[in-house]
Amino acid sequence: MPLRAHRKSLIIGAATMLALFTGTAFAADYEKMRPPRKLTKAQSERAAENYQKYCSLCHGVNREGYANDHAPSLRSQSLFESGVPHAVLRPLSYGREGTAMGGYLDEVGGPLTLDETWDLTYWLFWQAGVDRVRLSTNPVEGDVDRGRLLYAENCATCHGENGEGVDAPALGNQSALAHNTDEVIRYAIRHGRQGTPMPAWEDKLPSDDIDALTAFLRSKASGWTQQKPVLKAMPTPDQYVLNADGENPDFDLRDGRYVMAKDLLAAMESGKRMVLLDTRVTSVWQRVHLEGSIPIPYYTDFDELTAELPKDVMIIAYCSCPRAAADSVINKLRRRGYTNTAVMYEGIFGWMNMGYPVMRGEIAGMADSGSGH
Ligand code: HEC
Ligand code: HEC
Repeated sequence: MPLRAHRKSLIIGAATMLALFTGTAFAADYEKMRPPRKLTKAQSERAAENYQKYCSLCHGVNREGYANDHAPSLRSQSLFESGVPHAVLRPLSYGREGTAMGGYLDEVGGPLTLDETWDLTYWLFWQAGVDRVRLSTNPVEGDVDRGRLLYAENCATCHGENGEGVDAPALGNQSALAHNTDEVIRYAIRHGRQGTPMPAWEDKLPSDDIDALTAFLRSKASGWTQQKPVLKAMPTPDQYVLNADGENPDFDLRDGRYVMAKDLLAAMESGKRMVLLDTRVTSVWQRVHLEGSIPIPYYTDFDELTAELPKDVMIIAYCSCPRAAADSVINKLRRRGYTNTAVMYEGIFGWMNMGYPVMRGEIAGMADSGSGH
């Protein structure tokens, strides 16, 4: 331990010296901000519980990331130096549309109150234990065309040709671009995300190039507004079984567990009897789901639920991950004696990509926006 601390202080010392000589912008040059409010013991315990219940499935028990779905680290130094609260509170509250990250705020149909989302944000900050730096909200100017070339050369392998995300976050995601200011994006590129595959580019690219990349990513933003869904009532137990008079489906399960989307669609179309579980956070069920599915998120109390769930009906679970949350639910059910169970292999995004039908939520104060804008 003392050895590591010693090495770290040497590195910091060298960096400060270098900064003095070259005038390069190191983290130390940013103005520090006051830390956010301290949590009470009760708030902190509650936040820790909420983290394990809702987030650890993908972000890992120790906030290390990559437990499932390539979910990023929730303890890297640069994220908590630059982001709190926007880069943490907003994705946690509203999700990142079109990714496995759903919204957890009650207002959009999630399980957490506004106070709980704030406490969880600050809890993550205090766990990371870093100082916040003050970043301006001014746009970063840069050469977009050069940024496009640099992106294709250096970033596309991990973040996708079009910023759609491969095993790294979707940088072209409209909610992410709306939540992160230019400086937050530039800070991530400069400093990387410690303890993750994201390198610090300030050692590899000149400052102008990092500005060009930031400006290029910003040019991908086409606007995003938080939509307020009209929350649907949750289905009641008497609505759980689809086609109660139908026959059970006869699936040929891959690995004794997975049903292909096309086989599930065929079973739905021919009126087979089954229960469909949507295992994602309930806010995303509100937005879009398979018709007849019931929202039974991965964090449900299964001892309570199983009182309501029949054992003689085929139960199929799905999520967007494409399988992590559904797998965890099916494991819990199988441990409780539900053997007639399966997971939809492709997940709901796979299902939608194939053009299969879904039910969409209603948005407050908006006409059907099919034509886009
Ligand atoms: C089903 C998996 C899953 C669960 C559960 C989940 N997340 Fe995420 N989360 C993701 C993924 C995937 C991303 C990255 C999405 C992208 O931008 O491509 C993400 C991104 C984030 C980000 C943005 C981080 C960054 O580096 O920009 C935050 C903050 C976050 N999640 C917080 C949470 C919190 C807090 C919870 C629990 C309340 C939670 N997540 C639950 C999958 C998940
Ligand atoms: C080796 C793979 C890899 C390469 C190459 C890479 N990144 Fe990343 N990047 C990642 C990963 C993984 C993360 C998420 C890290 C985490 O927080 O867990 C990330 C995170 C980011 C973030 C923060 C996103 C957010 O939502 O918080 C930005 C911005 C970013 N990268 C930009 C870039 C740019 C620009 C380039 C090219 C110059 C690049 N990255 C190259 C893997 C990569």
